[in-house]
Amino acid sequence: MENFTFYSPTKFVFGKGTESEAGALVKSFGGSNVLVHYGGGSVIRSGLLDRVKASLEAAGVKYTLLGGVKPNPRSGLVYEGIDLCRANGIDYILAVGGGSVIDSSKAIACGVLYDGDFWDFYCGKPIEKALPVGTVLTIAAAGSEGSGDSVITKEEGMYKRGAGSEFLRPKFSIMNPELTETLPPYQTACGITDIMAHLYERYLTNSRDVEVTDRMIEALLLTMKNEAPKVIADPSDYQARANIMWAGTMAHNNSCGVGRSQDWNSHNIEHELSALYDCAHGAGLAVTMPAVFRYVMSHDEARFAQVAQRVWGVSSAAEGIDAFQAFLKSIGMPSTLGELGGREEDIPVLVKNLCYGDGRTGTISGFVTLDEKDCAEIYKMMI
Ligand code: NZQ
Ligand code: ZN
Repeated sequence: MENFTFYSPTKFVFGKGTESEAGALVKSFGGSNVLVHYGGGSVIRSGLLDRVKASLEAAGVKYTLLGGVKPNPRSGLVYEGIDLCRANGIDYILAVGGGSVIDSSKAIACGVLYDGDFWDFYCGKPIEKALPVGTVLTIAAAGSEGSGDSVITKEEGMYKRGAGSEFLRPKFSIMNPELTETLPPYQTACGITDIMAHLYERYLTNSRDVEVTDRMIEALLLTMKNEAPKVIADPSDYQARANIMWAGTMAHNNSCGVGRSQDWNSHNIEHELSALYDCAHGAGLAVTMPAVFRYVMSHDEARFAQVAQRVWGVSSAAEGIDAFQAFLKSIGMPSTLGELGGREEDIPVLVKNLCYGDGRTGTISGFVTLDEKDCAEIYKMMI
């Protein structure tokens, strides 16, 4: 196990009805003038936004609304949010929605306190300060409610980049599994896939003697394997949704990733798919992961065989990948590039954005270092 520091100060408030605590929580973290940021309308239709507004009003917290975050959140709305915060003296950002809303909120939070272009942070500039962010989560997926990460799509060029900083970790996250019952089954499945991807990206490590985190990841993967079919069969299964929601946070707040090298090649390769085709991130991962895993399997077949045996109940590395892909299909996820709207002739653009975009020098690295030829080969395998 390698040396590490783990600091995860988000306060999680979990369970039925907890959105009513939003106002008091904002106030307890020093917020008095809030930007309430949300997406394309699901929180209006479900009545959640009204309940959050009532909670802020009851706590005597002033607020300004900014909706319209699209899945795979865009840079344009971030600039708009930054201007709005400055014009209104906003001191706190409350994200009400999924990973896209939370990530857009985080981008606004660091951009408001910075004189330059917020995009600098998504090209590697370290973040030194940000407005505090709180969240009311509506989908178990990205794990952004407990992570210090944010992923934004640059509209000029349609490519995705991430920024990471302890300053972006939410101060609090309200997690009511009931709020996820209004999700379309496809979005529920996309979230399940993303959670499992966050576990696999950490499982694929070159570090040795990481028994405790290996076992934690396997436990979470088994939980997902067991709970996902329940929630697909019965969207109102509260207990299954609760287990999946907490697994999603544990999968990505890095408690399972400490002391070990991690992969993230599947995420990097997928991000160009969701940026170019505007597909759901989880659906892109369902297509990407099996291709990447098959391509890099020979690097450490024993590691793939271990997860195959302990999670999927099959003996070989290859059978484990097949079982994972079959599971993803069984919950309604795609398995080919064509199902995402992708075409073979786009591969050079995908590879260029991935390997050379924003100053990258031709490779991506994780479990294995991949150059442009490797990445092109992996995209081809998805056809
Ligand atoms: O916009 P609305 O109307 O709210 O609809 C959303 C959206 O269409 C809908 N939805 C969310 N909660 C709902 C609901 N519909 C009905 N009922 C509910 N309760 O679901 C759609 C997808 O929402 P989105 O926020 O995009 O989903 P997700 O949480 O999967 O976020 C995906 C984004 O997170 C990034 C991805 O790249 C992608 O841009 N990621 C962020 C990470 C992080 N910050 O740590 C890590 C991840 O690996 C990921 O890359
Ligand atoms: Zn992800």
